[in-house]
Amino acid sequence: MILKVARLGFPSIRTVAQPVATDRIATPEFQRLIDDMVETMHEYHGVGLAAPQVHLPIQLAVLEVENHPRYPDMPSMPLTVLINPVVTVVNPAPIEDWEGCLSIPDLRGLVPRATEVQVQALGRGGERLDFAARDFHARVIQHETDHLKGQVYLDRMPDLRQLGFLDEWQRFLIPCQKPGAE
Ligand code: NI
Repeated sequence: MILKVARLGFPSIRTVAQPVATDRIATPEFQRLIDDMVETMHEYHGVGLAAPQVHLPIQLAVLEVENHPRYPDMPSMPLTVLINPVVTVVNPAPIEDWEGCLSIPDLRGLVPRATEVQVQALGRGGERLDFAARDFHARVIQHETDHLKGQVYLDRMPDLRQLGFLDEWQRFLIPCQKPGAE
């Protein structure tokens, strides 16, 4: 089932999410929620979706990049379910890139993110996950786990002049940033 996506202003977007009780993970209701979040992420061409974005302030996020129309040059990321994630910055050297968010429609902003993180979480079967992520993968994880802290990418922007509407960004900002790009 495709879920309604909460936009900035809905309280869950600014609420610190609660941990998921581990005995809840295997329940049909929770497994269905994960399926619905994956379906919703696909429907809206997101690369990630956090539970607060579907009105639920709990520590659950899904992410996936596979032949993504908006990010054709990005390396693929397998479908990953993160429950109660803890993200540790391994390499804090920031790199800037453009981000958008399904809860902040039509906008893009330039956001510095750490280039490498270590992620500990539970997977959808309750199994322990512990993996390193770099570059775009690390960026998506930081974006999604920020949602679980009630934060959005705008909070991470040092310069709000680097915020624009997607269609204007495609006309003006991409040519400025990357000469010759389409
Ligand atoms: Ni987002």
